[in-house]
Amino acid sequence: MIDPWSSSIIDYEKLTEQFGIKPFTDFLGEIDDPPSLMSRGIIFGHRDYGRIVKALREGSNFAVITGMMPSGKMHIGHKMIVDQLIWYQKKGAEIYIPIADMESYSARGVEFETSRELAITEYITNYIALGLNFKAKNFHIYLQSENREVQYLAYKLAKKVNLSEMKAIYGFSNSTNLAHIYVPLIQVADILHPQLAKYGGPKPTVVPVGPDQDPHIRLTRDIALRFKKIFKFIPPSSTYHRFITGLTGEKMSSSKPKTAIFLSDSPELAERKIKSAKTGGKETLNEQRKTGGVPEDCVVYEMLLYHLIPDDEELKRIYHNCREGNVMCGECKQNAADLINDFFCKFARKREKAKVLAEKIL
Ligand code: TRP
Ligand code: SF4
Repeated sequence: MIDPWSSSIIDYEKLTEQFGIKPFTDFLGEIDDPPSLMSRGIIFGHRDYGRIVKALREGSNFAVITGMMPSGKMHIGHKMIVDQLIWYQKKGAEIYIPIADMESYSARGVEFETSRELAITEYITNYIALGLNFKAKNFHIYLQSENREVQYLAYKLAKKVNLSEMKAIYGFSNSTNLAHIYVPLIQVADILHPQLAKYGGPKPTVVPVGPDQDPHIRLTRDIALRFKKIFKFIPPSSTYHRFITGLTGEKMSSSKPKTAIFLSDSPELAERKIKSAKTGGKETLNEQRKTGGVPEDCVVYEMLLYHLIPDDEELKRIYHNCREGNVMCGECKQNAADLINDFFCKFARKREKAKVLAEKIL
């Protein structure tokens, strides 16, 4: 069982074996100018992505839905989702972004006012600063608590789901509060509502998420079939990306500040953080010169891979220099620190501008 509300590290291999997530490499060759998150294998799995490949190829209509729970500050791992949304937006997809304040309330005890505040000062501000176009056609962003259609749909769909099923999927117990038991249905409605007549009717949809969200995807796809007669839903597709490792080697998490580089960090702080990160270097310089480092175990390398080096050839060079012991961690870290400093300098300016616009969105 996967618990979407606990933060344990997930075994990606097992996930694909146990739950039937398919390898993303199935389709990689069929996608025009894939973003580096795809080409570098960070997006590792999918369900039914063939439908989306087809829509991309034909230039036909499809929608992308992915939300975030406003529970704290956004960290650099969250940027991955936004990067994907930006790519899909450029490809002409309809974009739907639920801000999961109902989930945050029922699963984390965050008050609605706090969520709203976080949505504006953190989420929307960062989305704009990272480059999402809020003025594009068919762009939708909303708080779950303020979306009457989504709530209404969730209630309707709940008619065909029972408690033992929810317990089996999520491990809910007799002491789980009812708001928490119900809130996955809101997410199901987040994902299915773009297929309502009001939004143009049934269409391929894709939900890019981390693998912790897969229980919601499975539930949504089941429910879509149960209501096929009434709504003609096409079961949503999904993709799954690897999580970014935290600075300490455990999962990066907003609730553990020591693990995270926050998007609101100053350039100096971000730089200091990356310099303190766990690497795949050896005990001694001598040993590292002889046997090389292990980029696969290195948080600094991961930061370069996910975010800081757009050029594949350059990344390859860094990888091999590490492997062959040509470069030591000190120098390599300094390079990453310079890059992150530069990114955060530019990003801080974009955030300042975005703040003004963010106030007006909800
Ligand atoms: N549950 C997601 C999270 O914890 C947030 C979310 C709400 C979501 N609605 C969604 C994700 C719809 C994808 C699609 O971050
Ligand atoms: Fe990581 Fe760079 Fe050290 Fe290799 S040389 S382990 S990539 S910091």
